[in-house]
Amino acid sequence: MQVPLIDLKAQYAQIKDEVKAVIAEVLESQMFVWGRQIKELEQQIADYSQTKFGLGVASGSDALYLALNALGVGQGDEVITSTYTFFATAGAISRLGACPVFVDIDPLTYNIDPELIAAACTPHTKAILPVHLYGQCANMEPILKIAQELELAIVEDAAQAIGAEYRGKRAGSMGDAGCFSFFPSKNLGGMGDGGMVVTNDEQLAEKVHMLREHGSADRYYHKLIGVNSRLDTIQAAVLLIKLDYLPGWEQMRRTNAQNYRELFDDADLLDDVQLPYEVEDGRHVYNQFIIRTNRRDDLRHFLKEAGIATAVYYPLPLHLQDCYQGLGYAPGDFPEAEQAAQETLAIPVYPELTPPMQEYVVERIGEFFKG
Ligand SMILES: Cc1ncc(COP(=O)(O)O)c(C=O)c1O
Repeated sequence: MQVPLIDLKAQYAQIKDEVKAVIAEVLESQMFVWGRQIKELEQQIADYSQTKFGLGVASGSDALYLALNALGVGQGDEVITSTYTFFATAGAISRLGACPVFVDIDPLTYNIDPELIAAACTPHTKAILPVHLYGQCANMEPILKIAQELELAIVEDAAQAIGAEYRGKRAGSMGDAGCFSFFPSKNLGGMGDGGMVVTNDEQLAEKVHMLREHGSADRYYHKLIGVNSRLDTIQAAVLLIKLDYLPGWEQMRRTNAQNYRELFDDADLLDDVQLPYEVEDGRHVYNQFIIRTNRRDDLRHFLKEAGIATAVYYPLPLHLQDCYQGLGYAPGDFPEAEQAAQETLAIPVYPELTPPMQEYVVERIGEFFKG
């Protein structure tokens, strides 16, 4: 049996007719930029994430860059973030001439450890950028408290976590701004790159709106030095279709996660692999289902031979990346992230994954550990 890590063709098969129809509509309108679907999607995503404003942009990376930029982060500022995330999180900080200040993770959730944030703050700290990794929100309450005490901004990197909840609040709604990615493998994936900034702050929304359009609110009159970072109408049209399916797809991811828990338990594998830890008062949307073992690389190879695709998110924490050598970090600085990078493995959890496929995955993992 072949089990891919994600099967976008299976997803497309369900929605093909609807997608083709809305693309045809955009083609007929020829409104490839700022078509009416943009505003519609912005409002719907803002509603979905319990915020007032949504601003479509060219990617999740740009969403982070534009949100931080609009909050005034720039040269000489420091932004605190997790060392265990996709590069774009820190890249957005660096692109603004600011400095990422890395913090270690909570080894259970893989999200930033709030207890370590205060010690990382300096008079230059301007913002905190927590990441809701794999589809589960970071522990926001203590983070919000520190931000309030020290008057820091918060931008949530919710690229992997649209629809996730923390104590009844949706990912993206808790900080000054939240950032989503519509990269095709995300829970709400477009037909290429796309992203969105959401916020409850009207002034911030207005600033992001200008910054994504070369700093202008009135065309050819530039209040700020911005960039070109728009979401295309075709992307918005497709995302509007997919957004209707998103709650169902999220539920299927959660059901698959629960099935895995039962299968791993039935196969007596819970001493061999650590399964994702779900915090009690949250809602994990399982963009990834991460298992953990100190035999990760061998397991990965074994599963590949058995036709099962897996991935390592991420093999090298950001503080050890070549491009950040100048920041002076060294191996051992963030032991939890460094160990997680050696031990975590994403196994398939996409909505269309079937029970027999899940059984096959767990059987092969059982074979690897028990022979
Ligand atoms: C945690 C995280 N942050 C930021 C991004 C950047 O999003 P994009 O690929 O849309 O630029 C991604 C996704 O790739 C991500 O997973």
